[in-house]
Amino acid sequence: MKIFNRYTPLQIIIHLYAWSALVWIIVELFTGTFSINPIQELEQRTGRHAITLLVLSLACTPLNVIIKFPELLKRRRTLGLYALMYATVHVLIFINLDYGLAWSLIARTIFDKPYIIVGALSFLLLIPLGVTSFDIWKVRLGKNWKRLHRVVYIIAPLAVLHYIWSKKGDILTLSGDIVRPAIYGLILAIFLAIRIPAIKRALASLPTRGLSLLFKKGQQPKADAP
Ligand code: HEM
Repeated sequence: MKIFNRYTPLQIIIHLYAWSALVWIIVELFTGTFSINPIQELEQRTGRHAITLLVLSLACTPLNVIIKFPELLKRRRTLGLYALMYATVHVLIFINLDYGLAWSLIARTIFDKPYIIVGALSFLLLIPLGVTSFDIWKVRLGKNWKRLHRVVYIIAPLAVLHYIWSKKGDILTLSGDIVRPAIYGLILAIFLAIRIPAIKRALASLPTRGLSLLFKKGQQPKADAP
């Protein structure tokens, strides 16, 4: 099939996964099976998909260290851009559907609820990364491009903190809805730890090429996001 000549299996999986959340929402809306609290459900699902895509984009480099599958490095940008897309939809739902563009109320809520300030910070920092993720900006910014894109190491923990904080639970006793966001935090911490040179070297020496054979079309990476 033509599509398999144009896209690698990993690309197809990423695009299908990224759009799946939106398609699922539309299907449920049309079949009347969506939540009885649709605005909150929309806000939560888009937020969760955004953070999942963001964590996945950060997983590419450490996974490549472990399974030695360089195509992963070329897919970071797509995952990051999809994360920005869902984060934008998430924010638009908050501003428009949840608060009906009532700006003074929005401003008051932002300052009343610290988890929203954290989310807003994470979102605002994500925008310049998305905008400059294209090759033309790589050339324009030179060395600063890599420096700028390291901000993702701040953005992702902020997004996880926003997630954990938005839940009415207790992180210490793992009560309430805190388990899922805590798992995101743990996974993110593992992926970030794998970037520490000593851990990276130890993992790189493991003989784990097997998984990369699953995907036939892996090509050499270009220098991409950190
Ligand atoms: C201006 C920026 C943002 C605003 C105003 C905002 C607003 C909100 C609000 C109001 C909730 C609570 C929804 C509820 O449980 O009723 C929420 C939850 C959440 N947000 Fe955000 N958010 C922002 C940025 C982000 C970003 C950048 C991400 C991820 C990259 C994100 C991911 C999440 C997640 C994962 C949840 C929890 C979903 C769940 O309960 O399952 N948010 N956000």
